[in-house]
Amino acid sequence: MIHILQVMRSPRQPAKLAVLLLLALLLLCNGVVNVHGKTIHENSVDLHALLDFKKGITNDPPALSNWNTTIHFCRWTGVYCTTTRPFRVSSLNNLTGQNLHGRISPSLGNLTFLNRLHLSYNSLVGTFPVLNNLQLESLHMSNNNLTGISPNALLNCSNLSYLDFSYNQLKGEIGQFPKLQYLILGSNMLSGATRHLESFKLSPISRLGG
Ligand SMILES: *[C@@H]1O[C@H](CO)[C@@H](O)[C@H](O)[C@H]1NC(C)=O
Ligand SMILES: *[C@@H]1O[C@H](CO)[C@@H](O)[C@H](O)[C@H]1NC(C)=O
Ligand SMILES: *[C@@H]1O[C@H](CO)[C@@H](O)[C@H](O)[C@H]1NC(C)=O
Ligand SMILES: *[C@@H]1O[C@H](CO)[C@@H](O)[C@H](O)[C@H]1NC(C)=O
Ligand SMILES: *[C@@H]1O[C@H](CO)[C@@H](O)[C@H](O)[C@H]1NC(C)=O
Ligand SMILES: *[C@@H]1O[C@H](CO)[C@@H](O)[C@H](O)[C@H]1NC(C)=O
Repeated sequence: MIHILQVMRSPRQPAKLAVLLLLALLLLCNGVVNVHGKTIHENSVDLHALLDFKKGITNDPPALSNWNTTIHFCRWTGVYCTTTRPFRVSSLNNLTGQNLHGRISPSLGNLTFLNRLHLSYNSLVGTFPVLNNLQLESLHMSNNNLTGISPNALLNCSNLSYLDFSYNQLKGEIGQFPKLQYLILGSNMLSGATRHLESFKLSPISRLGG
C-alpha cells in the first residue's frame, strides 16, 4: 500500500506505474509467482514439511521424483491441496504402495490442514510421529514396519473416522476418537482405541486385536 501511494504522488507517468504495480500485486496474490524461473511457494511451512518428509525417505522412489521446488508442491505426485487460498496441503492419499523406505518426518505435524494421510503398503520404519492438531479424518498406515507410536501422536485429532495401523509392529496406546467408524489394528500390540468400542459403529471389515 505504501508503495502505491508513493508512486501515485510521483509526477511522471503516475497512472502507468500504478497499473504496473497493481498487476504485480495481482500476480503476487495469485499464490505462485514465477520470477526468472524460480517458483515461489505461498506456504513455506507446508513446503518445508513436505521436503522434510522426502528427506526421511532413504531410497529414491519414482513417486517423489517431481518433489522439487521448481514445481509448486500442490502439483507434486500424491499431494493434494485445499482449493482456496492459501493452498494448504489437505491430503497425501496417493502414495500407497509407492516403495517408500525410511522414516516419517515429524515435520508432517506442521501440515495443519491435512485430512488424509494414506501411506499403506510401503516400508516405513521407526516411530509414528506426533501429528496432533492436524485435521485428520483418514489415516491409513497398514503394511509398513512401524515399531512405535509417539505418546499423544493423535491427540486432538477429534475428526478421525478411519484408522488403519494393521500389519506393523506397533506397541503403545493410540487414544480414543469420538467419530471413529473404521478401526483396523490387526497384527500389532496396540491398545487404547478399543476401550470405547461399544460406542463405535464398526464396519464388518474391521479387524481388531493384537
Ligand atoms: C524437478 O521435477 C521436474 C518434473 O519431474 C523435472 O523435470 C526437473 O528436472 C526436476 N528438477 C530437479 C532440479 O530435479
Ligand atoms: C494416483 O497415482 C497414480 C500413479 O501412481 C496415477 O496414475 C493416478 O492418476 C493418481 N491419482 C490421482 C487422483 O491423482
Ligand atoms: C515443523 O516441524 C518440525 C518438527 O516437528 C519443527 O522442528 C519445526 O520448527 C516446524 N516448522 C515450522 C515452520 O513450524
Ligand atoms: C518388515 O521387516 C521385515 C524384517 O526386517 C521384512 O522381512 C519385511 O519385508 C518388512 N516389511 C515391509 C512392508 O517393509
Ligand atoms: C473437525 O471438522 C470440523 C468440520 O469440518 C472442523 O471445523 C474442525 O476444525 C475439525 N477439527 C479437527 C480437530 O480436525
Ligand atoms: C488439545 O486441544 C485442547 C483444546 O482445544 C488444547 O487446550 C490442548 O492444548 C490441545 N492439546 C495438544 C497436545 O495440542
